[in-house]
Amino acid sequence: MNTLTEQTALEEAAQKRIKESHSLNGDADRLAKYYRGWADSYELDVEREQYCGPVIVAELTGALQAAYVDGPRAATTILDAGCGTGLVGMELERLGFRSIDGFDLSEAMVEKAVETGSYRHVQGDVDLNSSLTCYPDASYDMTVCCGVFTLGHVRPDGLRELARVTRPKGFVIVSTRKSYAEATSFEDEVLSLQQAGVFVPVQCLNDGRYLEEEDAHYWALRVAEKPKERRL
Ligand SMILES: C[S@@+](CC[C@H](N)C(=O)[O-])C[C@H]1O[C@@H](n2cnc3c(N)ncnc32)[C@H](O)[C@@H]1O
Repeated sequence: MNTLTEQTALEEAAQKRIKESHSLNGDADRLAKYYRGWADSYELDVEREQYCGPVIVAELTGALQAAYVDGPRAATTILDAGCGTGLVGMELERLGFRSIDGFDLSEAMVEKAVETGSYRHVQGDVDLNSSLTCYPDASYDMTVCCGVFTLGHVRPDGLRELARVTRPKGFVIVSTRKSYAEATSFEDEVLSLQQAGVFVPVQCLNDGRYLEEEDAHYWALRVAEKPKERRL
């Protein structure tokens, strides 16, 4: 194979793996198995597809922290939900964050995240489609979630748990691929949490760069000072 053909074949294989991951219907066993097989080549695949979600989520987190969060950046506590191999954590560390925890459904992906050295603590086998019982209410200043509100992965109501574990006046920063936003009730979920007094009126970067094949929306959701009801 010549280099160009080889490169095209690798890109096609990466696109196929990304697409396949969207067909797992949110089934925890299938997702964990799929990512076990993908963990070793995940970063190369998404790099080939110009995945910039982690950079944008981290930069947005940095801007929100600088604008609204008291205290030194290094002490701002962050939970990276669905941290995968740790791409978001590495970007956050580059920006000066030092108190980052993470979790993921996949133990294999979490092992890679641990190797980055960017996290204080990372936990595997945690399912965002269920209650995050290992995290008390209001335990983080900011919660980030990149590439997880994606078809076949996590339902929109996972957002409630992210709001619950984030402290009053803290932020939940989330990416949603456009195809996910269009196919699910994610926006309705945001509005209902806003109407319920959990989030204050929200901000969103619409149609931002994400992957070569598709853009995403980037949501900056602020937890209310006195969230009315944390478990809806
Ligand atoms: C596309 S990767 C994104 C990983 C990382 N955030 C990034 O931006 O590179 C999706 C991640 O979500 C995790 N995941 C899928 N379903 C999940 C669930 N129900 N609960 C927690 N993590 C989940 C997968 O194991 C995988 O690591």
